[in-house]
Amino acid sequence: MQLDVFTLLPHAFSWLTEQRPLAAVLGSELELRLWSYRDFTPLSGGQVDDEPYGGGPGMVLRVDVVCAALDTVYDDWSGRRIVALTPQGRQLDQGLVDELGAEREVTLLSARYEGFDERIAEHVATDAVSIGPYVLSGGELPAMVLVDAVGRRLPGAMREESAAVESFSAALGGGLEFPHYTRPPEFRGWRVPSVLLSGNHAEIDAWRREQSRGRSVGAA
Ligand code: 6GU
Repeated sequence: MQLDVFTLLPHAFSWLTEQRPLAAVLGSELELRLWSYRDFTPLSGGQVDDEPYGGGPGMVLRVDVVCAALDTVYDDWSGRRIVALTPQGRQLDQGLVDELGAEREVTLLSARYEGFDERIAEHVATDAVSIGPYVLSGGELPAMVLVDAVGRRLPGAMREESAAVESFSAALGGGLEFPHYTRPPEFRGWRVPSVLLSGNHAEIDAWRREQSRGRSVGAA
């Protein structure tokens, strides 16, 4: 999969790409390309944003700058999945992660300041995505959230078993994952559930499914 991220802060992504599971798929299953709008702007002084027409606070990412960047990187970007990250977008969930992860190529557009010139949403992006009902200062964290969520599902990112049974997976009926415990079996009187120490895998399985169901009630 090829994931292109257009951002004003490409260096912000380095921590994400240096760690597993992302590092494990970079250069094989995942080609992640980070592009800075500033490198493509036709305006002087690296300008990428401007004051909003009609007045008001903040700065708005210019449509000509975004299109100059896309025109330079792609011969033809019609038909491409281009996702604008904005709090006004469709809220991200595991279904949307899987849908985007099934694409061969996806482009993410992030903005700082007050956001995008609306013409980017109208004419350039195919999707608008939010990562939740709260406001962040820019689209970089949302872009990283999407890169991580998509990248970790790619083949080779994780051991198969660990990716198959996790929260929101089909194996758990879309529900939340069961609790995990490790050594010591007792600490300050806090005990690990005895079924997990029993060695009875059928019982452990049943207990885990029950726990997963219990956690998921009311959570969705
Ligand atoms: Cl995608 N952008 C910003 N600025 N804030 C957000 C968001 C996106 N998703 C949730 N909050």
